[in-house]
Amino acid sequence: MLRDREAVGAFAAEMVAEAARSIGTGFVLGVATGSSPVPTYEHLARAVANGELDLSGARAFALDEYVGLPPGHPQSYAEVVRRTVTEPLRMRPERVLVPNGFADDLETAARDFERSLAGAGGLDVQVLGIGTDGHVGFNEPGVPLTERTHVGTLAESTRRDNARFFGSLDQVPHQCLTQGLGTIMGHRHVILVADGQAKARAVADMVEGDVSIDCPGSVLQGHPHVTVLLDPAAASRLT
Ligand code: F6R
Repeated sequence: MLRDREAVGAFAAEMVAEAARSIGTGFVLGVATGSSPVPTYEHLARAVANGELDLSGARAFALDEYVGLPPGHPQSYAEVVRRTVTEPLRMRPERVLVPNGFADDLETAARDFERSLAGAGGLDVQVLGIGTDGHVGFNEPGVPLTERTHVGTLAESTRRDNARFFGSLDQVPHQCLTQGLGTIMGHRHVILVADGQAKARAVADMVEGDVSIDCPGSVLQGHPHVTVLLDPAAASRLT
């Protein structure tokens, strides 16, 4: 547990930066979108701007994408990743991949994404958030714990949570293309960041509950290298 959301971001950024420096060119980073990792990316951007970190030889993969948002839609994760990761971290756009949620054939897009991940040799570090219902990526309660990248359906609670990024709930897509829990479990180091009281229940279920499809994040209990970084509110239901 850390002092606050800023401290969570600073700590996560330092872990990412250390891994990037030790691995060098060829470092492969997994990036979540949403609010939780924003301070992490801001701290990384500062390190890049100060010349303390160079990610120009690194690759990045996003966790997920909404289905049906046209290229350039400001809330598509392709755009969010461009604005919050690729540009501020001065990564090469051609080295940053987001699942194609606007593809005519989503099944093929999912397979292509998995193939690219494998081609990159897997992810060195995945920055992950968790939803209020325990989802990681967009793997909602009930999805198999071993699935690979697939088309998923957003829970209504997730659509409501994410309506803040759109003009209204109606505009939030119902479907997504997301890395599966099986995909995420293959990443070498998972750094999960969470802050705020709204995450306290999901965090407690993930860390201290049974491993269950009711809390997709709980699958991480079986992962050999996970770091969970929390502010006091998100940690408040841990015993
Ligand atoms: C985002 C993602 C989601 C979010 C989660 C938490 O790429 O896969 O699992 O990490 O919904 O979102 P925030 O951080 O906005 O509370």
